[in-house]
Formats: sequence, C-alpha cells, structure tokens
Amino acid sequence: MSAEPANVKTMELKKIRDKNIPGCLSHLTGIIADRAEGSWITDVDGNKYLDFGAGIAVVSAGNCHPEIVKAVQDQAEKCFHTCFHIIMQEPYIRLAEKVAGILPGDIPKKIMFLNSGAEAVENAIKFVRVHTKRKALASPEHGFHGRTYGALALTSKTKPLKEGLEPFIPEVYRIPYAYCYRCPVGKEYPGCDMACIMQIEDMFSTYVAAESIAGIFIEPVIGEGGVIIPPMEYIRGLREICDKYGILLVFDEIQTGFGRTGKMFAQEHFDVEPDLTIMAKGIANGMPLSALAGKAEIMDEPNTGAVGSTYGGNPIACAAGISMIDVLERERLVEASEKKGKYMLDRLKKLEFDYDYVGEVRGLGLMIGIECVKNKESKEPFKDRAGEIIKECVKNGLIVVRAGARGNIVRILPPFNTSDGDIDSGLDIIFNVFNGIK
Ligand SMILES: Cc1ncc(COP(=O)(O)O)c(C=O)c1O
Repeated sequence: MSAEPANVKTMELKKIRDKNIPGCLSHLTGIIADRAEGSWITDVDGNKYLDFGAGIAVVSAGNCHPEIVKAVQDQAEKCFHTCFHIIMQEPYIRLAEKVAGILPGDIPKKIMFLNSGAEAVENAIKFVRVHTKRKALASPEHGFHGRTYGALALTSKTKPLKEGLEPFIPEVYRIPYAYCYRCPVGKEYPGCDMACIMQIEDMFSTYVAAESIAGIFIEPVIGEGGVIIPPMEYIRGLREICDKYGILLVFDEIQTGFGRTGKMFAQEHFDVEPDLTIMAKGIANGMPLSALAGKAEIMDEPNTGAVGSTYGGNPIACAAGISMIDVLERERLVEASEKKGKYMLDRLKKLEFDYDYVGEVRGLGLMIGIECVKNKESKEPFKDRAGEIIKECVKNGLIVVRAGARGNIVRILPPFNTSDGDIDSGLDIIFNVFNGIK
C-alpha cells in the first residue's frame, strides 16, 4: 500500500518536490494525496489509506464533509476576501457569536479570528501583557504552542523545533506539567499532594516573582508533547495560582478543542474556566482558521488596531467554521468522539499487558497515545520502536502519527465519524503490527 517504486505518479511528483521544495520540511509518510473522503485518503496512484491522523487532529468531521464543502463553495461564490479591518463580513460575525455560544462558562466572551494556531498564540501574548501590564510568561515542560518566535519560546521540545534557532522572546519560564507516568518531581499520583503545583509556587521565590508573570499558557491535555492527561487537581491548582497572583490563565485548546477529547473543549473535563482560550485545527475542519477568545474586559483592552491580520477570519474559512459547529452538533460528533475514544482505549489498553515495550496507553476522547519504552522498569523512551510501528501501520494502509518530546509516542486521532467497522479495521492493523514486532 505504501508509495513503492511502482507508484509512478508519486515518484514523478517526489522528484519535482525535491527539486523545488526545501528538504527541511518533514513528512511522516511518503504519501501524496489526491482525494480524501470521510476517514479515507486516496493517493495520486490510487492507493487508499485509513486516516487515523486527521491531518493532526484537524478534519474531525471527516475529510471533505459534504455539508462543509457546500458551505465553502457557496461562500466562495459570494465573497472571497475583504480583510475584516477594511470591510466586515457576515461569516466572521456569525461565527464569533457561535463560538461564544459553545465556549464553557457564564462570563461573556469576545472572539477574534486569525489564520494559524501559532498566530493566535502570538496574539494571546499581546493580550495578557496589555491586561496585566507584566512581561513574563510561563508554560509547561512538554507543551507545544507553535513555530513562530513567541510560540516557540512557550514550546518546550528542543529538537528539532528550537535547536539553532535561538534566541526566542525572553522572560519565558518553564513550569512542570503533571505527566504522572513520568512525574516531574519523582512522586506517584495519587498521594503526591500535587507536589508539581507546589514546585510552581517555589519557583516564584527562586526563578521569577509571581507578580512579574502576565500569563500561564497551558494545554489542558497535551497533544504534540505525548497525549498527556493531567489530574483534575493540576489544572485546578493552576487556576488557584493564577487567581492568587493576578496571572491570566490561557488554555491552548488548538488541538483539544472542538470535541477532540470527547467534550467540546478539554477545559470541561476539569471544570476550570480560563481567562483566554486559543483555538485552531478542528475549528473549520481543515480550512486555515484560528481563534482567540477571552473575557470581554480583556479582549477589549488593547488599542484599536494593535492586533489583527490581512486574512484572519477570511469569509470562506469562517463559513467552514459555522458549518463545522452545525455538523458537530447535529451529528452529535462530540459524543461520538467520547464513545469511540473509550472503545478504542479499552481495546488498546491490552497492549500494555502484552508488550514490554508499551509503557502506557492513555487517551481522552479520540486523542490516544501509546508510549513506547525500552522496558517497563527503566521507562527509557523507545523512539525507534514508535517509528517502526508508525511505518508498519502506514505500510498496511493506516495513518497514525508521532508525539512526545522524545518521539516515542504513537498518536491516534481519527475523525469522529469514522464508522465502527473502520475503527475495528484500524485496530486490527495496529494489533497485527504490534504482533509482528514482539
Ligand atoms: C496545542 C497546539 N498549539 C499550537 C499549535 C500550532 O498550530 P499551527 O501549526 O496551526 O501554528 C499546535 C499544532 O500542532 C498545537 O497542537
């Protein structure tokens, strides 16, 4: 099934790719897509792949969902682009109202739209600094927030993301994340008294004064960093710290938002309301769109014109976003994410017992990770094994992706409307692959 030499068109396009596109742009697979429908991708040579990557947690309603395609087509015929700062347009305004309606919490929110996740993170930095009149920022180990310079400063993974690209924006402090499989303070949950939260309080005496910190940026469930699901007390502890010291709590829900963890937003699992929420990926099922939402008093604060962008909230992307929320609600896809996620996790958990190189299988909704280790005692990360598994899955027609600061986690992110039959077929491929690598 993979792009072997017989795949003539793939080979031809690869030659053109290599001549004209920088080698430093990485590809997990050698597949060149031609068409995508629901949970399936067909490459330019007609090979079909079951898509458990969803473009890294983006096409949650399935590739080319017909209703979203229609919304895009209709909007493209009406109005392509105005630049919201020159002429407003209806899809932007309607989508803002819709996103405000689905965000948890009673406090009124205002929303602005941008193009990418990283761009929304950059803008969030402006808002927390303006509101608090402070400069410093904090973000956790294992967090990922994007590839622009501010976002990279908040990002923890060094290789290949940061190495050689220094310096980043200054005054960013790294805090521990409750990665209980690898506790950052050497304890065991439960019974640890949330020592990681206490360590953050300690840092305020030895690293940076709490009163200098404008915002703590955090993924409520970490994605790229390895599908890390913290205990409720960790996220609640962060909220308490922020309230105590006047720090803004910013949830990066770029990967977790719009149903990926089995709730519309991952923050609902913890019943904690942030001051700002950053969204992208699943928001428009693949159209480039991101959003930043926050309490009205924070969002109204910067000088008029201090934030914005030419394409941010493009009408076609916003039309896709409106349609995406309609589809999520009408087809009950968030519930599907929860239910199918539980089913998959239940079955995949078996891998922990069957293979010494599987340290932990964890997941929330349809965001699932399999952590590969050299052995269960040492927990030494086993990056090559994760790579081997991903490669074999792709060879057998199933797309899965990689995660983790050390690249040792196999990540599974299917579209929410993947049929039960396709979920089982994908699981069969995964079990067969593991079986072949004893
Ligand atoms: C949690 C999180 N934040 C930020 C980003 C960056 O988004 P983008 O690639 O759209 O800039 C990502 C992308 O994977 C992400 O998962």
